Amino acid sequence: MLIKTQIGLRSSEVTDEAVWLERRDSLRVIGGILAMGVVGHSHAGAVDQAGSVAGQNGPADLSERLTPLRDVANYNNYYEFSFYKTPPSELARAMQIEPWVLEVSGLVENPLTLSIDDLLRLFPPEEQIRRLRCVEGWSAVVPWLGFPLFQLLKKASPLSFGKFVKFTSVMQPETMPNQRDQKMLPWPYVEGLRLDEAMHPLAMLSVGMYGKRLLNQNGAPIRLVIPWKYGFKSIKAIVKIEVTDKPPLTSWNEVAPKDYGFYANVNPAVPHPRWSQATERPLGSSFYSPRRKTELFNGYAEEVTHLYSGMDLRQFF
Ligand code: MTE
Repeated sequence: MLIKTQIGLRSSEVTDEAVWLERRDSLRVIGGILAMGVVGHSHAGAVDQAGSVAGQNGPADLSERLTPLRDVANYNNYYEFSFYKTPPSELARAMQIEPWVLEVSGLVENPLTLSIDDLLRLFPPEEQIRRLRCVEGWSAVVPWLGFPLFQLLKKASPLSFGKFVKFTSVMQPETMPNQRDQKMLPWPYVEGLRLDEAMHPLAMLSVGMYGKRLLNQNGAPIRLVIPWKYGFKSIKAIVKIEVTDKPPLTSWNEVAPKDYGFYANVNPAVPHPRWSQATERPLGSSFYSPRRKTELFNGYAEEVTHLYSGMDLRQFF
C-alpha cells in the first residue's frame, strides 16, 4: 500500500516558509545528529529549493501549516513529569536517554533487544508529516522522523496467535517526579493496539522531529505516532513492545474506561463524556481564533477505515 508522505493534509493551510527554511537547515545536519552519523535521511534530497517535499505526494496535498516547533516543544502532555502543559519541557531535561534498550518480546519467533543505534541502522528514518489530535481538543501538524512499526514487528515475526501489541514506557522515578509522587495513573505508562492496527503503514515509531532528534518532552528517544487515534495512544519513551494474545490493559483505559477507550479513534461525532470532539484548536493559534473542524480518523479515513469494517464506529471511544 502506498502511503503518501503528507497523507490527509490539505493545501488550504499553507506551510510557513520560515519553518521550511529552518527545516532545510536542520535536514542538512540530520545525518550527523541522528545516531552519530549512522543514519541516512532518505527524504533529505527530496526537499527542494521551495522547501516543499517532493516524491510520493500528489501536488495537491503538499501543504498544511506545520505547527511551529516552539509550540510542539513547549505544550506537552507528559504525565510522568507533570499534569500541566509547560513544565515537561523543563523537567524532562533530567531524563536519562542514553544508553537506551528497546525490547521486542512476547508472542514472537524472534525476540529482539536493540539499542537506538541498532534501530537507526536497521530502519533508517524518513520524514512523515502527520496530524496529531489530542483528546483534550488541541492539535498539531508535526514533521516526524521515523519508520513504520511493521518493519520492526516483521523482524520479530509475531506468532499466529499474537493478536495485540502492548507498549510500555520507561520507568525512571529518579527523573520523573510523578512516578514517585502521583498515583493518578498507574506507572509505567502503557498503551496498546490490535496487531493489524500496529501493522498498518501509518503506524510509526518516531525518533526525531523537525529534522532533529526527538526532544525529551516529545518522547525521546523513541515514541509511537498513531495519527488516526487520539494522542494518548502515541506513547512516549518506549522500552518494551510485546505481542500478546489478549488486549493489554492500557493506562488511561484502566483508570477511566468511559473517558478513554482502547480504540480511541478520532471521531468528531462521538463526544467525550465531558466535552465535544467536533472541533480542535491548532497549537500556536489563539484561543479566540475559529477552531478547526475535527475529521473522522483525524483525516486518515481513506487509509484506515477498512481496519474497522463491520464495527460500530461509536464504540470506539
Ligand atoms: N506517553 C507517555 N509515556 N506519557 C504521557 O503522559 N501523553 C500522551 C502521549 N504519550 C503521554 C504519552 C498524550 S495525552 C498526548 S496528547 C501525546 O503524548 C502528546 O505528545 P506531545 O507532547 O509530543 O505533543
